[in-house]
Amino acid sequence: MNKFRIGSMEDYEKAYKSSIDDPEGFWSAIAKNFLWDKEWDKVLEWDFDKFDVKWFKGGKLNITANCLDRNLKDRAEQIAIQWEPNDPVQVGRTLTYRQLFIEVCKFSNVLKSLGVTKGDRICIYMPMVPELAISLLACARIGAIHSVVFAGFSSNSLRDRINDSECSVLLTSDGSFRGDKKIDLKSIADEALEECPTIRNTVVFKRTGDHVTMQSGRDHWWHELMQAADSKCDYEIMDAEDMLFILYTSGSTGKPKGVVHTTGGYMVFSWYTFLNVFQYNEREMYWCTADIGWITGHSYIVYGPLLAGATTLMFEGVPTWPTPERFWQVVEKYKVNIFYTAPTAIRALEAYGVDHVKKYKMDSLRVLGTVGEPINKEAWDWYNVHVGKERCPIVDTWWQTETGGIMISPLAGITPLKPGYATLPLPGIRPVLVDNDGKLLEGNNVDGILCFDFPWPGILRTTFGDHERCRNTYFSTYKNLYFTGDGCKRDEDGFYRISGRVDDVINVSGHRLGTAEIENAINEHPMVVESAVVGYQHPIKGQGIYAYVICDSKHGNDESLISEIKAVVNRIIGPIAKPDIIQIVPGLPKTRSGKIMRRILRKIAGNETDNLGDTSTLLDPSIVETIKAGAINK
Ligand code: WTA
Repeated sequence: MNKFRIGSMEDYEKAYKSSIDDPEGFWSAIAKNFLWDKEWDKVLEWDFDKFDVKWFKGGKLNITANCLDRNLKDRAEQIAIQWEPNDPVQVGRTLTYRQLFIEVCKFSNVLKSLGVTKGDRICIYMPMVPELAISLLACARIGAIHSVVFAGFSSNSLRDRINDSECSVLLTSDGSFRGDKKIDLKSIADEALEECPTIRNTVVFKRTGDHVTMQSGRDHWWHELMQAADSKCDYEIMDAEDMLFILYTSGSTGKPKGVVHTTGGYMVFSWYTFLNVFQYNEREMYWCTADIGWITGHSYIVYGPLLAGATTLMFEGVPTWPTPERFWQVVEKYKVNIFYTAPTAIRALEAYGVDHVKKYKMDSLRVLGTVGEPINKEAWDWYNVHVGKERCPIVDTWWQTETGGIMISPLAGITPLKPGYATLPLPGIRPVLVDNDGKLLEGNNVDGILCFDFPWPGILRTTFGDHERCRNTYFSTYKNLYFTGDGCKRDEDGFYRISGRVDDVINVSGHRLGTAEIENAINEHPMVVESAVVGYQHPIKGQGIYAYVICDSKHGNDESLISEIKAVVNRIIGPIAKPDIIQIVPGLPKTRSGKIMRRILRKIAGNETDNLGDTSTLLDPSIVETIKAGAINK
């Protein structure tokens, strides 16, 4: 067993203590576990005020040498990627470490043949097929920076992300399957590319076989380029602090930011957290149901598991198609040992009733995990009893796109569990809670805002093209602290429970969305004057989207206006941002200085209208009554 795998509570306490007493010694010992072309000169340099963090400065390496080349010695014939297609009738695919290595080398050569060199940005807009993972790894192999855009985003969102980081190549597919739906990805990409001057080439993977238009000189078929590609490709030697990838994520203001992760620290952190949180054993079947379009897929479908030499299962489909038994069928079929999913999926499946799960023994399962949003006690219990049969620890993992990997979580079977709690920080992680004024809340039994006062190797390094925005967003709220945006409690035992966002970010089905971003999309409708979006508690999605909209004249038919507005959001951002509820209102509750009092709107959306608090500072307090009277009940 790897010596860095924590084996007992005592071990955890020891590791934690040593990570605090000597962070540089702690992380450098772990980093030595990897292949480096040159060891670092300095383990850590940091300054939260300017926001400048460097891990393993001067170190030279390539992350794919560690994911692939290194694994050829002992596990070339072991399955690296087990792929399960959307339709259970179709056969899956397996790629051993050797096969994955060859595919990655070949595709690296394809990228090179298109003129891609170190530092170029490559946008990836693909369904959950093995070629998606191959794409990420091929970029990393040649030092290109990948920027994956979730394939459920609209052409506008894709366009904005491509332009923000000036990508030169787009990797996509003809189409994709999701449950009973077929999505025409190439047409969406074509629409985006009309306004993407930096894209010189696209590579199109054939998935659905549907007819697509290929623009001569720009668009190339994946299979055609691969046919001619050489299977040998030396990796590019990267600096530990060279960019590995960009991943766009929503914040409380403005457009999504391109969160940047670099090579060395991210590698060390994604591996260490994967190994310890899931207590991964050699040859286990590991399944994370996320999409690679999100950080969870980057760190815990691709990089973490491959660095650990695990078999990672990639699933193209959705939990409820063809039946709500699909997850459990896949667990049985591949004898999954570690299963990692989102609370939303658990709640959705719970709603279909236990009979669907009861049919499956699933005795291969050893560890269960959740990610992305708080898990309510009922869903936790259901997961524990019906999926884990009360014998699998559940790791409730708290982290963010910006943290690169898991920060607060139980270590499966090692540290104690408490339903609804992410429990304890991982070694090397130093959470602090502060009140609204930034005053440190010491001791236990306190409620505040979650921050970190010391860097960890997986911390973001910047937001692409705008370092000042990064500094402002994460390091200016409280001096010398990384600000997460999450509210948090530390209970009497010192366990952490995340309560949800304290800013204007909402979490819908585990997807992070900025309310401002949705408002901007709504406002694109020609009839809309102004809008305000808030989250409300939703039984399945965690949070639903409630939009209050002012329109410029009374529309004859609200129903059609409402569906038009939803269609606009769908077109501008994508289906995940479509409001659940739209209430047409004559005005919004604004203070005399013109600020919308969202607190009131949140309460109305949440049916908590008994105590709306002080409304006397409003320009027109009567608007509150009007909105209340027209509120749409869920
Ligand atoms: C929320 C996903 C409660 C939180 C990895 C955070 C959670 C945001 C948990 C990040 C959890 C994530 N319990 N809340 N276990 N995990 N969150 O960037 O609000 O998509 O700030 O990263 O999700 O979302 P992101």
